[in-house]
Amino acid sequence: MNKKGKIGVFDSGIGGATVLKEIIKLLPHENYIYYSDSINNPYGDKTETEIQNICDNIVRYLIEQDCKIIVIACNTASAESVDYLRNKYKFIKFIAIEPAYKMVYDYSYENPTLIMATKGTIDSEKFHSLLNKYDNHQTFLLPCIGLADRIERGNINEINKYLNEILHPYIGKVKNVVLGCTHYPLVEENIRQILGDVNFFSRGTISSYSS
Ligand code: DGL
Repeated sequence: MNKKGKIGVFDSGIGGATVLKEIIKLLPHENYIYYSDSINNPYGDKTETEIQNICDNIVRYLIEQDCKIIVIACNTASAESVDYLRNKYKFIKFIAIEPAYKMVYDYSYENPTLIMATKGTIDSEKFHSLLNKYDNHQTFLLPCIGLADRIERGNINEINKYLNEILHPYIGKVKNVVLGCTHYPLVEENIRQILGDVNFFSRGTISSYSS
């Protein structure tokens, strides 16, 4: 067994695997446990207390499995529970994530931006301080209620129909798209087909189809 202990990574389902993939590229020699909490999916429309209790149970399990570092690979769970978890489990290092809006500030500030995230993330205090700090004053917020569940179910027609409905008002109006839920990179190509030539910001990466 790795003396340093394992790295535990969790999300409400398959979305956090998009984060895990990036972490493994950076730290290929660590041991990982990925906890996909499909039973409680979606987190996006649960209350803060519900999310904290769910995350608490997962964290206890990951500690039992010898995890010394825990990555909350979910924007919603990070926004609603990281302070609670850090306070309760002081001996564990928690890595939390947030929508990649600072990257817009750093790399594409002058362009109109759409932030797609769960309602839980968009309503959270943490997200609002991020938005206030890096506001480019041409940012639209889009709570994608039910998108993560549709991605979990994996019915591509259902996903495309939903994306067409919610993205229609933004066609030709935005250049940057922040994928503020770890499930959404899994449908990046479907989003691009609707919005066209946009820059995507997620998981610490920018992907652009014009370059
Ligand atoms: N993948 C999670 C996130 O990054 C949310 C999905 C859900 O609503 O459960 O916010």
